Amino acid sequence: MNTRGNDNLPSNRPPTQRDLDPHLRRYAQRTVGMTASEIRALFAVASRPEVVSLAGGMPYLPALPLDSLADELAQMVSSEGMAALQYGSAQGTAQLREQICEVMALEGVRAHADDVTVTVGSQMALDMVTRIFCDPGDVVLAEAPSYVGALTTFASYQAQVVQVAMDDDGLVPGKLEAALDALAAQGRTPKFLYTIPNFHNPAGVTMAVQRRGEVLRLCAEHRVLVVEDNPYGLLGFEGKIYPAMRASDPDNVVYLGSFSKTFAPGLRVGWALAPHAVREKLVLAAESATLCPPAFTQFVVSRYLAQHDWKGQVKIYQEVYRERRDAMLAALAQHLPPGCTWTHPTGGFYVWLTVPEGLDTKAMLPRAVTERVAYVPGTAFYADGLGSRQMRLSFCYPTSERIVEGVRRLAAVLEGELELQRTFGSVRPRTVFGPQSPSPDTA
Ligand SMILES: Cc1ncc(COP(=O)(O)O)c(C=O)c1O
Repeated sequence: MNTRGNDNLPSNRPPTQRDLDPHLRRYAQRTVGMTASEIRALFAVASRPEVVSLAGGMPYLPALPLDSLADELAQMVSSEGMAALQYGSAQGTAQLREQICEVMALEGVRAHADDVTVTVGSQMALDMVTRIFCDPGDVVLAEAPSYVGALTTFASYQAQVVQVAMDDDGLVPGKLEAALDALAAQGRTPKFLYTIPNFHNPAGVTMAVQRRGEVLRLCAEHRVLVVEDNPYGLLGFEGKIYPAMRASDPDNVVYLGSFSKTFAPGLRVGWALAPHAVREKLVLAAESATLCPPAFTQFVVSRYLAQHDWKGQVKIYQEVYRERRDAMLAALAQHLPPGCTWTHPTGGFYVWLTVPEGLDTKAMLPRAVTERVAYVPGTAFYADGLGSRQMRLSFCYPTSERIVEGVRRLAAVLEGELELQRTFGSVRPRTVFGPQSPSPDTA
């Protein structure tokens, strides 16, 4: 007899969660925070070619010289294949860690390769940092809004996320101080502040240099570690590289970096630079997760940094993204109805758009996809259901022409919603939800 759940269902009873997953009672408590995005199915539709996706955060890889990379790769396999295809050190290859220090020196960071841990993308570094610091119920501070992949990681370790307001100059120190004081009054000290100071995902803003000092001072005073996530730092459009927060406070900042945006995300090479004692624990956590990061992709990145004009390639990316940012900002100004406001990024991939009061960007998304334009609703970037009047628009992947067309379609959807609102009153948010697993399109 077959005893598996679904096969034994009486035909007149709707399936329960248990019928659908017979392992339901076995999962650890922490899986409660791991839920798939409600909008994942919509994004499957949104990836059809007729839809202009302003949702995904995918780097524009056609800007890479694939032929010369293929030649370099082939040479690498024949000359270094024995090491590149072998297991390696849990911390990453010595050569790549040295090179990473040179990359970070562009942001004023003086670091020793011993303090760098190579990870499978900076996402893994974020996971490792949370794993070594957070017990269930611990508080983590983050910007409001914040990177969806960070919120899902914090949720998967059952951390409580307290989000702190930003403005056009990034995280607001006064608000951070108020949050720290309020938590202190409850006898709680956050484990760390997670911040994306440069070309923020999703907000598109950059933390003013003077504020960085204030934020570091407040965190040091309250004995809160700072986790500085900086995948976009070299992708500024005005020739400016901001000083890393890690450069001013090496003992209290864990810096996370990545080659995903400056080279290619498919390689999954990122890193953490941590104070020496923290690095010890990070390596142990990383070892238990992967034994060692892939030697192969580390060799690829090392060779790329050593033999390719990688800074020239970063310039090419900057130029592509600057042109697309300009196209998006001009189209927003030309087409969006009154009452919309948006940020003006000076680098990175994203614009953060606020729509007129009464509209709900998540409720509006199915209609937008029907009208062949996609975006990420703002609620994805908050742990507490805020963000229903916001959305993230990405300008990194579609061409300028597609961006303009996408904004035109979005404007028509907004006009339609406003018309409905005038006729029937405000469109209230249907649901309030917390962070959910990002689909590739929300990352
Ligand atoms: C702010 C931020 N941090 C981390 C990541 C993850 O990057 P990686 O590809 O290095 O894992 C992303 C990716 O979009 C990001 O936007």
